[in-house]
Amino acid sequence: MNDASQIKAIPGCTIYENASLLERTTFRVPASASMLIDVHDANALPALLESSIAQGENALILGEGSNVLFTRDWPGVVLALRTRGIGIIEEHDDAVLVRVAAGEHWNDFVHWSLDRGLFGLENLALIPGSVGATPIQNIGAYGTEVGEFVHAVAAWDRITRKSVRLARDACAFAYRDSLFKREPGRYLIMAVEFQLPRQRELRLDYSGVREELATMGVAQPDARAVARAITRLRTRKLPDPATTGNAGSFFKNPIVTQMQAQALKLSNPDLPLWPVSGAHAKLSAAWLIEACNFKGLREGYAGISSQHALVLINHGQATGAQIWGLAQRVQSAVLERFGTVLEPEPLVI
Ligand code: EPU
Repeated sequence: MNDASQIKAIPGCTIYENASLLERTTFRVPASASMLIDVHDANALPALLESSIAQGENALILGEGSNVLFTRDWPGVVLALRTRGIGIIEEHDDAVLVRVAAGEHWNDFVHWSLDRGLFGLENLALIPGSVGATPIQNIGAYGTEVGEFVHAVAAWDRITRKSVRLARDACAFAYRDSLFKREPGRYLIMAVEFQLPRQRELRLDYSGVREELATMGVAQPDARAVARAITRLRTRKLPDPATTGNAGSFFKNPIVTQMQAQALKLSNPDLPLWPVSGAHAKLSAAWLIEACNFKGLREGYAGISSQHALVLINHGQATGAQIWGLAQRVQSAVLERFGTVLEPEPLVI
């Protein structure tokens, strides 16, 4: 049996050979994979992951493709997790433990939790992508990071070839960072367990949130109103990946020493800074990029959003290499003018 027919014998998978990945990432750039496998049933995973096809470095895991940029074709197999299922595992007076399959759509899960009176995820409404991808870069927005609510991550360890259940501390969450990002390709996330409180103080301090609630006429917000406000803010501030190819913020906000931050602030009094710890501060990458006059710039079909300077966009026919070329020009300009290195947030292939 060749590799493809070996996989075809596993129920719960759909296989495409020499498949286009154009519709598989939110950047919508052309790329192909020798083989693309949609995995609909989690029960298919053990056999699939033990097969020769999923071994080695040429097996790439893809969720909804909202945080990846292909600059070339993928020479091996792409596994797209399409598994579904949300289940309550434990109910306590103050919180509920929920297990969510990796292929669930993140925003649907946020609303599923709010509809059941479970809180915490309201500030993370409308972030594109699948649930299984959220712990990898520890998605965050409007003063909340997903890692705060992750109880454990169920994954397949491709080195030991065993299922593992990693508790939150083992996931080593940090700003747009985690164990899964530091050991790329090692873990295939199969499901995420979230601990969601039944009561929690709302986080309204991030700039713009209270103002949006006031505009909506909400004087005493609950978590659902906050989710609506965040949805409105994101819709206004960020280009919609359904119509304009993009992957959200293309760069992380750089974390520098307080000394570097204060030196930059001295010569650029408007530069937004956020304290991270006693010794470090976070700079606004969007501000640095806008100051270098990149906001709204277009080179062929690749561009920088005129809504938000952190978002690189595909105006229709851009290749990943063209978008990456523009990203590198942004990095060089910011480095030259401010001495600051901008790190890409998405996975660049
Ligand atoms: N700013 C500019 N120019 C712009 C946009 C923003 O100068 O075009 C400055 C403004 O001073 C603004 C400040 O940057 O006050 C912060 O902007 P924003 O509130 O949009 O936040 P951000 O730091 O640019 C981060 C996340 C976003 C998340 C927002 C809101 C990162 C890399 N990005 O952006 O996450 O939605 O905060 O919480 O941390 C994503 O990860 O894909 C993403 C969109």
